[in-house]
Amino acid sequence: MRIAATADLHYSAQTQGLLKEQLGRVRDEADVLVVAGDLTNFGRPAEMEPLVNVLVRLRVPTIAVLGNHDYECGQEGELIRMMTSEGIKVLDGTGYERDGVGFAGTKGFVGGFGRGVLTAFGEPEIKAFVKASIDEAMKLERAMSQLQAAKRVVVLHYSPTVATVFGESPEIFPFLGSSRLAEVVDRHGAELVLHGHAHHGTLDGKTASGIPVHNVAISLLQAQQPSLAYRVFDI
Ligand SMILES: [Fe+2]
Ligand SMILES: [Fe+2]
Repeated sequence: MRIAATADLHYSAQTQGLLKEQLGRVRDEADVLVVAGDLTNFGRPAEMEPLVNVLVRLRVPTIAVLGNHDYECGQEGELIRMMTSEGIKVLDGTGYERDGVGFAGTKGFVGGFGRGVLTAFGEPEIKAFVKASIDEAMKLERAMSQLQAAKRVVVLHYSPTVATVFGESPEIFPFLGSSRLAEVVDRHGAELVLHGHAHHGTLDGKTASGIPVHNVAISLLQAQQPSLAYRVFDI
């Protein structure tokens, strides 16, 4: 299966034309398209509507997770409904199998990496924050447990490893993802992990057990030579 992957489209009327042009050939190059979150800027249905139109016209099966920007207006349920009703598979702690490949997806959350992972100690506010991070890891656990397929692909918005956020300011690393997500992936095994959110991060990394992790934020892909709107992974 050829999987085209992108993220952080941050749809706006200004980028619609460019997006249409850049994604136009995806159907010839891939069997599925993965969009790893931040489809919109502010999570408004008015942003999602034209974007869904663009995505549907690509005529390629599309799998997505939401990103933090898609939650900004508190309309994430409506965004999911809009995508789902047009046939886009939105993963939120859920799994989906297609042609022998299992996709497990969830947004993920912040929290830091390795020895820097924030733990649930002290004030209730810290405990609530850490709980949100653990809850997303548990959603991924549930999604991965659902899959029967031998080949699995994990789709996240936040990074599961520090390796693919290098390039961003070190001060914000803890807000770019959480290695709690990678622990789940390593326990279950996967062919690869796709994520976005770190717009100026690093393309490729690995989890502790060596599972490839790819940051497919579109701004990072567009900064490559030649400039790309998505990357295609053959599994
Ligand atoms: Fe983003
Ligand atoms: Fe984001």
